[in-house]
Amino acid sequence: MTTSSDQKPTPKFETRTIKIFDTTLRDGEQSPGGSMNLTEKLEVAQALADLGIDVMEAGFPIASPGDFEAVREIATTIRGPVICGLARCNDGDIDRAWEALQKAHHARIHVFLATSAIHREFKLRMTQEEIIQRAVKGVQRAISHCDDVEFSAEDAARTEIDFLCRVVEAVIDAGATTINVPDTVGYTTPNEMYARIEALLNRVPNIDKAILSCHCHDDLGMAVANSLAAVQAGAGQIECTINGIGERAGNCSLEEVVMAMRTRQELFHTRTSIVTERLVPVSRLLCKITGLDVQRNKAIVGRNAFAHESGIHQDGMLKERSTYEIMRPEDVGFAKTDLVLGKHSGRAALADRARELGYTLTGEQLQTVFEQFKSLADKKKEIYDGDIVALIQQQISGPAQQVWSLASFAVTSGSSKKPCVELTLRHGEKEYTERVEQGDGPIDAAFWAVEKITGIKVVCKDYRVRSATIGRDALGEVTLEVEHEGQQYRGMGTSTDTVEATLFAMLNAVNRIVTEKSVRSQSKVTPQDS
Ligand code: KIV
Ligand code: ZN
Repeated sequence: MTTSSDQKPTPKFETRTIKIFDTTLRDGEQSPGGSMNLTEKLEVAQALADLGIDVMEAGFPIASPGDFEAVREIATTIRGPVICGLARCNDGDIDRAWEALQKAHHARIHVFLATSAIHREFKLRMTQEEIIQRAVKGVQRAISHCDDVEFSAEDAARTEIDFLCRVVEAVIDAGATTINVPDTVGYTTPNEMYARIEALLNRVPNIDKAILSCHCHDDLGMAVANSLAAVQAGAGQIECTINGIGERAGNCSLEEVVMAMRTRQELFHTRTSIVTERLVPVSRLLCKITGLDVQRNKAIVGRNAFAHESGIHQDGMLKERSTYEIMRPEDVGFAKTDLVLGKHSGRAALADRARELGYTLTGEQLQTVFEQFKSLADKKKEIYDGDIVALIQQQISGPAQQVWSLASFAVTSGSSKKPCVELTLRHGEKEYTERVEQGDGPIDAAFWAVEKITGIKVVCKDYRVRSATIGRDALGEVTLEVEHEGQQYRGMGTSTDTVEATLFAMLNAVNRIVTEKSVRSQSKVTPQDS
C-alpha cells in the first residue's frame, strides 16, 4: 500500500465535495485570549480567503459594536468565501446581522437556538412547541433578508432525536438551506455522531432541500473524529477553526480534518477547496496575532509535526519517504528553506515573501516594514522568515491609534546596582520623560516608568521573550498579557534589544487599553446567553 501523497494513485471512486465553514473569527475569537482587533481580523480574514475556505463566519454582529464593525468591514472587502454572521432567533439579532452583511457578494445569516432538554428547561424555560415556533420565526425573518440561511440546533448532540427531527423538518420548511448539528459541549463520540446524522438523513422527509453540517467542540478531544464521522454518515459541511481555537477546549481543527480527508481519500471519498500549502502560514499568522501558540507536536502545523528524531525512522526515511511519512511537509506549507532575503532585496521581493507567509500588506504597511527590514539587514547578516514575520506582526498588531510611542530610553542595571530606566514617550506633539530607579531588574523598572508616564496601571499576567529566529543577533520577540481594570490586554514588541522589545510590547498593550476601553465597556453578548 502506498501512503505518501506524492505517490497517491488516481482515485477510482466518486468523490463528494465537503464545504469548509471556518469560524475562527467567531467561535475562535470567543475563546479566552483569542480576541482580535479590527486590523487583525481583516488580516486573518484575507488569509482565510486565500486558504480557500467556502464559508467565513466573520462574527456575531449584535454582540458588540466592535463585532458589528468587523463583520461589516469583512463583508465589504473580502471576496471569495460566503460571509456569514451569527444571530440568535430574534428580530433584533437577525436584522443587525443583515445590516452588517449587506455588502457581501454572497451573504449567509446563521441563526441558532438551543434544542436539548437541559437548555430548554434551565436556560430558555421554553416548551418543545415554543422552540419550534421561535426557530421557524427566526429562519423566516432571516430568509426575508437573504436566501442563504443556516440554522443551528444548539446542543443538538444532546437533543432527543425525535424532537431534533421535528425541529429540522420545520426550519427546512421555513427556508433554511443548511442545518447545523453542533456538539456544543464536546460530549458526543464518533459512533453517536454518525448515528445522529444518519437518523436525520433517513427520517427528515425534506432533508434533501438542505445541507447537513457538523460543529464539534473538543472537550473530550474528539472534535476531529466526530466531524469525520459526520462526514462519513453524509454531512456536507464541517465547521472548524484554524489551530482548533474556540470556546473552552476549542473546535474541530481545520488543518487536521482537511488533511485527514485528503490523506485518507480512499476511505472518505471526499475533497475540499482548501489550498493545503497555505495551512502552516495561516496557522502561524493566527498564533502571532492572538499569542495562542500551538504545541510543538500539534498534528499538521506543529513545529515537530514532520521532525523525525529516532535513528530508525531517519534511516527508513532516507531509504523511502513513505516508510514513516504519510504527508509531505511541503503539502501543508512547511517551507523547504528558511533563509530568504538579504540587504539587497527589494520591496517587491519582500511583498512576495510576506504574501507567501500569509500576510497581505497595504502600501503603507509595506513601506514601513521595508524600512525596518533594511535597517535590520544592516545589523544582521541573514534575514529569515521569522524575522520578516516579527517585523510585519509588530506593524499590524498595533491598535488603530498609536496614542503613546517610544521616543528614547536608557537603562543601567548590574548585580550590585538598583536598576534605572530613563524613558521618554511621545504623546501627540509632546514628549514626557521619567527617570525611575525602582524594581527588581530593568524590565520591572521599564514597567514602572511606562506606568508613571501614561498613568495606566497594569498587573503583568504573562511575559514571554523568544527569539524570532536563530543566532545571537536574532530579533527578540516579547509578548505580554496585562490586566487593567479587570480586563486582559495583549502586547507585542520586537527588537534586537530585549528591553526595547519589552517597551514596544508594553506600549502596544497601553495603546490597546486606551483605544479599546470604551468599546470593551459595552456589554458583550455570547451565544451562551441566548
Ligand atoms: O457550539 C455551538 O453550539 C455554537 C453555535 C452557535 C453554532 O457555536
Ligand atoms: Zn461552538
